[in-house]
Amino acid sequence: MSSNIKKIGVLTSGGDAPGMNAAVRAVVRSCSYFSIDCVAIYKGYQGLIDDQVKPMSARGVNNIINRGGTVLKTARCLEFITPEGRLKAFKTVQKHKIDALVVIGGDGSFTGAMIFQSEFNFPVIGIPGTIDNDIFGTSHTIGYDTALNTVIEAIDKIRDTAISHNRLFFVEVMGRDAGHIALNTGIGAGAEEILIPEENMGLDRLLESLKKSEKSGKSSSIVVIAEGDKTGKNVFEIAEYVEKYLPHYEVRVSVLGHIQRGGSPSCFDRVLASRMGVFAVESILNGKSNVMVGVENENMILSPLEKAIKGKSKINNDLIRVSEILSV
Ligand code: F6P
Repeated sequence: MSSNIKKIGVLTSGGDAPGMNAAVRAVVRSCSYFSIDCVAIYKGYQGLIDDQVKPMSARGVNNIINRGGTVLKTARCLEFITPEGRLKAFKTVQKHKIDALVVIGGDGSFTGAMIFQSEFNFPVIGIPGTIDNDIFGTSHTIGYDTALNTVIEAIDKIRDTAISHNRLFFVEVMGRDAGHIALNTGIGAGAEEILIPEENMGLDRLLESLKKSEKSGKSSSIVVIAEGDKTGKNVFEIAEYVEKYLPHYEVRVSVLGHIQRGGSPSCFDRVLASRMGVFAVESILNGKSNVMVGVENENMILSPLEKAIKGKSKINNDLIRVSEILSV
């Protein structure tokens, strides 16, 4: 592979996701494999602005593939939104003679990367790392699979206590404006109902469905609610509403929160992150820029960053159908 790229910088940005470390490791080791330098930028774009840059070697990423979080730290950097902030970042890039950037993060991080690329004509490539799976151009984002497994484990535990007390539980899961986590874990954990932003079932239908469940002999129930659902009420308000109209139900709420972002990455996420990291470096060396790596039907693909940001990652409608059939 012949290329003008002699040094790549790698950073993690936005919300952390399990598997980000595996992606960092893959980027660093691929650089070493192709005999180019690699530097780590700490705390996302903030580290570019503040010059928190350190050389990375293949051995420097030993024993991180199994670790959750990100060893490079991360941030949602407001200063990078300003032209002044980005100029400071560009000066850091010049100072360290970095020829291209690999940005591991979500759509906010990619928006920053795209603007940076166009302002300074600087090569950037994105690796999708977020538990939300809300990025267009990849069937899976790094961290999503691990988050699904974490949620399933938590709901299984909630079910034990729900059954013991004959209770109705409302479990709120993350996902920002997307319902992928809720829909998949709802089916996987056998939830009676699943509320997602993509399909507003409305509170009346929820009441009807819970009444039906009760009549059919269910003594406890689990409802999974995506944090971004569009009923116009938060999980506590929904619980209160249901308790008001179905007073015989003993209702409890569980907001799973940030446990969904932590923990050791699943094998799936480690392999995905490893493949994406290698492909990102290979793509840069092949002259690609302003693109995001993704996976579709087991194959690695590239999509323009703009599409990744603006496109909509779609919910699989068959999953909605399956969940309706199985909640009988
Ligand atoms: O994007 C990942 C995510 O965990 C979302 O699911 C959630 O809405 C958000 O980040 C929470 O952000 P923060 O950690 O800044 O509270």
